[in-house]
Amino acid sequence: IGRKIYYFDTIDSTNKKAKEIALEEVEGTIVISEEQTLGRGRLGRGWVSPKGKGIWMSIILKPQIDPMKVAKITQIGAAAVSLALEDLDIKSYIKWPNDIVINRKKVCGILTEMSCELNMINYVIMGIGINVNLDKQDFRGEIENVGTSLKVETGKKISRKKLLGLFLNRFEELYTSFINKDNFEDTLKICRNKSILIGKEVRIIKGRDEKSGKVVGINDEGELLVDYGENKVENIMSGEVSVRGL
Ligand code: BTN
Repeated sequence: IGRKIYYFDTIDSTNKKAKEIALEEVEGTIVISEEQTLGRGRLGRGWVSPKGKGIWMSIILKPQIDPMKVAKITQIGAAAVSLALEDLDIKSYIKWPNDIVINRKKVCGILTEMSCELNMINYVIMGIGINVNLDKQDFRGEIENVGTSLKVETGKKISRKKLLGLFLNRFEELYTSFINKDNFEDTLKICRNKSILIGKEVRIIKGRDEKSGKVVGINDEGELLVDYGENKVENIMSGEVSVRGL
């Protein structure tokens, strides 16, 4: 991971760029930029990516796995971010499937996109945005109460270079173990351990459909287990759901 790096001062979106070059590039190629002018988030949202204040990057991956299992790669990414923060003595939680939160606010989001044909993966783009040194004023409008940065939460400026290195080491370890040894258990352990949702009452929002239930765990496939009462436990795939506290 990271043997080849495309570095930009400014770009619209690293995910968009990564998609453009993915077919010709080798696995592990990284697209990273100091700033994004059109950063994309999940569910069609935007992603605030001011210059020099965060880690805005996309990793091109070419796993030869069942496309149904790609959500696991996003969870590997989330686990790796959380471990890298722990390496810096910063305690964070994972909000399933792929947000990293501190003090209930989001410091990192992951947007995974995939291209496949005849059930074979051409490429997977894992876009990661880590709010490292953003200031309070960078979170305006609808993200004011949901987004935060490592600097805001710890009161300290954090080296992006150091954090990036720690993340890449953590990610490479979990990812290669998953691909080569089918080991997803190590990632699961981290996701369960650091889960902010297990034991909580939540609302599961899928398009217009909204249901309340209690999160009872994460199964071996990495799916969220939600108890809707009367012993009706459902497993939820990461897809297009949004999970909110009550
Ligand atoms: C989310 O909504 O939580 C996902 C946010 C993902 C943001 C990252 S920043 C780098 C990459 N390029 C993008 O345009 N988005 C992702």
